[in-house]
Amino acid sequence: MTTEAFDKRLAAEIIAGFDARPEMLVQILHAFIERFGWINADAIRQLAEELNLSRADVHGVVSYYHDFRTSPPGQHVIRICQAEACQAMGSRELSAHAEGSLGIEMHSSNADLTLEPVYCLGNCACSPAVMVDGKTYGRVSPKRFDEILGGLRGAN
Ligand code: FES
Repeated sequence: MTTEAFDKRLAAEIIAGFDARPEMLVQILHAFIERFGWINADAIRQLAEELNLSRADVHGVVSYYHDFRTSPPGQHVIRICQAEACQAMGSRELSAHAEGSLGIEMHSSNADLTLEPVYCLGNCACSPAVMVDGKTYGRVSPKRFDEILGGLRGAN
């Protein structure tokens, strides 16, 4: 995952791209995640100032949505779908396997990897679904998961 360090000027450009409209906060936060990888305290402060919201308002939205991580991601981001169709096809067991295999818990990161839940990747017909660095994989068994991650490590 390629992101860059938070930069106030770039953040201002992103906010201006949404006409600094407070009702666009969620979309702006998505754009921040896309650009910077995570939402830090400086980003929350700037959003509050430029959108004329309180910091508590911004923080409330950030903490409500799973997508808005508040710590830096690892080099690779792995998301395992936890929505209904994937749960019915074993995503909980797959998540437990991933935690054991990667040595990190869901919602956490090390320098290399971030492991996160996601709620439907639009790939329900091929559940359980996993997304690795923006690429979706379907019918992911624990064995297939290890193969996918093995390929990732081989690529580094
Ligand atoms: S429920 Fe997992 S992809 Fe839709």
